[in-house]
Amino acid sequence: MSMKRRRIIAGNWKMNHGVATTRSVIATLRATLAAVNDVDVVVCPVFTSLAVAVDAVRGSAIAVGAQNVHWERNGAYTGEISADMLKELSVTHVIVGHSERRQYFGETDDAVNKRLAAAVQAGLIPIVCVGETLAQRMAGQTESVVTHQVHTGLACLSAAQMANVIIAYEPVWAIGTGVNATPAQAQEVHALIRNLVRLRFDEATAAKVRIQYGGSVKPENSAMLMSQPDIDGALVGGASLDPGVFSRIVQSAS
Ligand code: PGA
Repeated sequence: MSMKRRRIIAGNWKMNHGVATTRSVIATLRATLAAVNDVDVVVCPVFTSLAVAVDAVRGSAIAVGAQNVHWERNGAYTGEISADMLKELSVTHVIVGHSERRQYFGETDDAVNKRLAAAVQAGLIPIVCVGETLAQRMAGQTESVVTHQVHTGLACLSAAQMANVIIAYEPVWAIGTGVNATPAQAQEVHALIRNLVRLRFDEATAAKVRIQYGGSVKPENSAMLMSQPDIDGALVGGASLDPGVFSRIVQSAS
């Protein structure tokens, strides 16, 4: 069964762009993307730039996402931010389980599941990241690793919730390395993920869920990647920092 899914391009700015740069980058994006109306566009700045970003996108089709969210509503969790706090700012999306959180900050699939549940409860649209390391790929564990991440990390979701969640397949070896997965390598894992959703829920849910590819996406490779049947967009890191480059990736999805 085939179904037309609206493409979604998200920029993960990581720990870049303070308030002044956030304002100017979004001003440029608004101008360059004014004519694009068939692709969802999301920018994910650091927490301290979120309020300025929401203000800067007002009246445009660009959405703003955070890069993380805590599972509790408030309390003694130094350094964390709750879903309600993001909602209060009118942030609409949030990245959950990025591989840098997993690698550097000890994020587990259980924690991903808890963060995801809080995001969905609050009405945020999560972008949940999964993906294998190079060692895991070399050991032939890509399928088992990604399957475990999807089963455990997304355990909290109902079918209706699943349909609105965005999954980002980001092979860790492709992130920030300049070495993107080939379209065929990415498609293989995207199809696996969609099939996991199909097996757990149903065909309709699997047909709706959008799966982004991430890992060294550039204007030069984005169209080829998105030409694959199960690749519905991109989560872009380094190439999202420059609004001209990011716009070209969005345009390639249009
Ligand atoms: P990259 O990062 O595009 O710089 O490889 C992608 C990501 O980490 O989301």
